[in-house]
Amino acid sequence: MTKKIKLELMWIGKENRPKLEPRILIENPTKSYHAAQRHGESDIFDNRLIFGDNLLALKALEQEFAGKVKCIFIDPPYNTGSAFRHYDDGVEHSIWLSLMRDRLELLRHLLADDGSLWITIDDNECHYLKVLCDEIFGRANFVANAIWQKKYTVANDARYLSDNHDHILIYAKNMNLWLPNKLPRPSSMDARYNNPDNHPKGRWKATPLHAKSGSQSADTFSYKFRNGVSWSPPPGTYPRFSAASLRRMDDNDEIWFGKYGTATPSRKTFLCDLTNIGTVPLTVWLYSEVGHNHEARNETKAFNSENPFATPKPERLMQRIIHLSSHPGDLILDSFAGSGTAGAVAHKMGRRWIMVELEETCHTHTSFPA
Ligand SMILES: C[S@@+](CC[C@H](N)C(=O)[O-])C[C@H]1O[C@@H](n2cnc3c(N)ncnc32)[C@H](O)[C@@H]1O
Repeated sequence: MTKKIKLELMWIGKENRPKLEPRILIENPTKSYHAAQRHGESDIFDNRLIFGDNLLALKALEQEFAGKVKCIFIDPPYNTGSAFRHYDDGVEHSIWLSLMRDRLELLRHLLADDGSLWITIDDNECHYLKVLCDEIFGRANFVANAIWQKKYTVANDARYLSDNHDHILIYAKNMNLWLPNKLPRPSSMDARYNNPDNHPKGRWKATPLHAKSGSQSADTFSYKFRNGVSWSPPPGTYPRFSAASLRRMDDNDEIWFGKYGTATPSRKTFLCDLTNIGTVPLTVWLYSEVGHNHEARNETKAFNSENPFATPKPERLMQRIIHLSSHPGDLILDSFAGSGTAGAVAHKMGRRWIMVELEETCHTHTSFPA
């Protein structure tokens, strides 16, 4: 008989829950602005920047937005013990867990069934946060822990190891309903495609006719092409295509037998058939693709050189997350807004957005006095 034991993350004060009185959000007309009228259905009109504690703000948003947010991005204080110029980043570990738990539960409620949550965090709390999120979202809805190379220089003053990456914990509200969008194909991938036989479909790349796994019986499979060449999958592999597909490819001159017609047959995989497919995102995100901390700081300096926000995220990182998780018109929520990178990038990408920020920087950094 097998015995199942349920393990749970415990911390001092876990049982204490804040009592949340219902709140309403009140617009401050002196700080609001938008066009006088809508011009089209796709106009983005009702974005919100909320000044206050996100616990209360998220509670207040529930009534209108429960189940409607497509992508939640949060970049909470990492609990590093630092006192940044614009906010404090050090509370007792168990208090941090309780603060996060209370907010994550509300965030989950706001997420659409086909939505996803993305959290940036470092080694101080990442692994506790992972277990906490497992409890709230379910382990089955954990998508990945992407590693973001936030820094490319070595910290030679580091006592142990130079800390060069952050984690991005990714959860789906429901793994069966969520899929990330593909990334655009980098043009370097296209360089491998040529057209040595001047095929009317254009540039192609030779790819194997066999696969590592498959359902067709490999032992008995053999196919004879029009030129008399017979092909069977190499030992331990499987045919990638049915006999009918091989016949169709052979008839359309889509099988390559090498420059001299003597090579092992392979499939011509055409570039024109791939361009809309894109590439699957990796779990390692290099600074060259999505930016780094220094780049983010320069971005904020460009419009506030006197007092740049201490810990912004680069726009390219936000672009990647928003691209993978949403489409134009979808709603993006960032409840730890800081300098407002998530909302700014969401706006540029044609998404709707809601941001929440607790500190006065909401008026000086997230938004500017008009
Ligand atoms: C790491 S920063 C976010 C930086 C942001 N991603 C950017 O690109 O600028 C975390 C922010 O969360 C805010 N914050 C912390 N606790 C909060 C709370 N309870 N409600 C709302 N905002 C909070 C802090 O004031 C700080 O601005």
